[in-house]
Amino acid sequence: MTLGAGKRPVAFVTGASAGTGREIALALGIGGYDVALVARRTAEMEDVAQAIHAGGGDALVLTADVRDAAVLDRAIDAFLAWSGGRIDVVVNAAGYTGPLSPPIGEFGVDEFDSTVATNLRAPFIVLSRLLPLMRQAGAGRVVNIGGNHGMRGRAGRSCYSASKWGLRGLTRSAALEAGPDGVTVNYVAPGPIAVPRMKANWRAMAEQKGLSEEEALRAYVADMGIPLNRPSEMQDIVAMVLYLIGEGGRNVTGQELVVDGGATL
Ligand SMILES: NC(=O)c1ccc[n+]([C@@H]2O[C@H](COP(=O)([O-])OP(=O)(O)OC[C@H]3O[C@@H](n4cnc5c(N)ncnc54)[C@H](OP(=O)(O)O)[C@@H]3O)[C@@H](O)[C@H]2O)c1
Repeated sequence: MTLGAGKRPVAFVTGASAGTGREIALALGIGGYDVALVARRTAEMEDVAQAIHAGGGDALVLTADVRDAAVLDRAIDAFLAWSGGRIDVVVNAAGYTGPLSPPIGEFGVDEFDSTVATNLRAPFIVLSRLLPLMRQAGAGRVVNIGGNHGMRGRAGRSCYSASKWGLRGLTRSAALEAGPDGVTVNYVAPGPIAVPRMKANWRAMAEQKGLSEEEALRAYVADMGIPLNRPSEMQDIVAMVLYLIGEGGRNVTGQELVVDGGATL
């Protein structure tokens, strides 16, 4: 249930049901924003909304598959009705990894379409609707969550990598268009993040190889070539987003902020 956005600044966050997007939405709620939450899993978002309400903020749950342009468009209509047309912060965090190891030629174009629709087309649709409003208002911050696979290639990750590289192009172009109106648009590129989904992978890896969880994580970090010897915690990404939408980010736009422990150096 929602009472409608009040006088607080308003944020629109996709991928708010789980992982990093969820933590970003919670941090914004605690940080004084009314937050619209977008993802497919309603119950998970209701939990986030409840936590934001408990902290005195407002939240709107928008159940939507962001791959479906019409559904996403309707969600944005509902958002604008709720916020009265106000939009201060957009975080595009919904993401899909796509095929995880087969090489090109061993999966269909539908997998490519699905990955690009989630990671690139959805942010484009969101920006198409919300960036003009920010520009009219003369203020606003957009953060697109990419990935360090948008800074490099990786065998077995062609769809994901292509979609995240594309998001960089969208970010830079939007930053150039919106900059003169006082709106910043940036790209955060995480390396592996210790989200529940990744932790489950690491546990499975440990079991498969007969290692302890700690040993399996150490092997994974070595395999990924991470100089700082650790995956990111979700809070590492949240902190970067808060920096970009806060005072520190006032004069930062069109940038790719890589948060991966140095893996892409
Ligand atoms: N975890 C990592 O190691 C890592 C590394 C680099 C970059 N990233 C990027 O960071 C962002 C967050 O990833 P994460 O791993 O923290 O999250 P996650 O646990 O994988 O959760 C993904 C989020 O995206 C939403 N989502 C996915 N497909 C969607 C769709 N078709 N429609 C609506 N929502 C959709 C999911 O919601 P529903 O399932 O409820 O729809 C969920 O809220 C992503 O953009 C990801 O590519 C993650």
